[in-house]
Amino acid sequence: MRWNARAYDSSFGYVSAQGAPLVELLDPQPGERVLDLGCGTGVLSGEIAVRGAYVLGIDGSQAMIETAIAQFPRLDFAVGDGHDFTVAQPFDAVFSNAALHWMSRDPDAVIDSVRDALRPGGRFVAELGGAGNCAALTSAMLTAWREHGLREPELPWFFPSPAEYAVRLERAGFTLRILEHFDRPTPLDECPNGAADWVRMFAGSLLDGVPPATVEPLLRRVNELAAPALRNDAGWMADYVRLRFAAVRH
Ligand SMILES: C[S@@+](CC[C@H](N)C(=O)[O-])C[C@H]1O[C@@H](n2cnc3c(N)ncnc32)[C@H](O)[C@@H]1O
Repeated sequence: MRWNARAYDSSFGYVSAQGAPLVELLDPQPGERVLDLGCGTGVLSGEIAVRGAYVLGIDGSQAMIETAIAQFPRLDFAVGDGHDFTVAQPFDAVFSNAALHWMSRDPDAVIDSVRDALRPGGRFVAELGGAGNCAALTSAMLTAWREHGLREPELPWFFPSPAEYAVRLERAGFTLRILEHFDRPTPLDECPNGAADWVRMFAGSLLDGVPPATVEPLLRRVNELAAPALRNDAGWMADYVRLRFAAVRH
């Protein structure tokens, strides 16, 4: 997946803006070492650092990390894969907003890497897409792809149920303190083309295999199919469902 860091901050800044309650749940303390996994352009890493914690942001995208370094030159950032990163010194907490559902190849490997990066008693505080996330959006996509005679795309995300994720965390050696699964309808205020803009940002790689002349009509059809569920007089709304948790390493 290629990330457009500039479009991410300008049109999809709501992702990090909605991470504020997660920073509250993390409650970073001065002097703590916090790793921000899938830090993107570093906006929430910056929020955590303002509380006096040392922050290392890790992200799989070179473009995101370059933007993060440019925006927050005093913080540490590195390109790395959530499935197999290692750290030189253990952290007090691993934080992650809106990123774990992208690390879909092997969610257990991600959880194991997080555990190994934490000191015993260290906490893992994160929010990701939960079961049912973007169901109307993705159903419109799959139908539009089918109608255009294209092979159904393999969606790149992992949206676990609370029960499934709890089992994974506990099996890996975490004690769960808090686990919430909730709807968070999210206005797409900066997306004049609604669902189509969302697809370009978050599922752009699925358009790679689509003949160029088909892309526009395909996205128009996604909008037509998604509109009854996701558009009202005020504009477009993404049907986000989140899973938010705080867990502690044994
Ligand atoms: C929606 S963005 C969230 C960014 C940031 N946490 C925020 O709240 O704005 C998802 C991020 O996950 C990163 N990501 C996806 N897969 C990854 C992987 N396997 N390892 C590390 N980062 C990954 C992407 O590069 C992207 O920056």
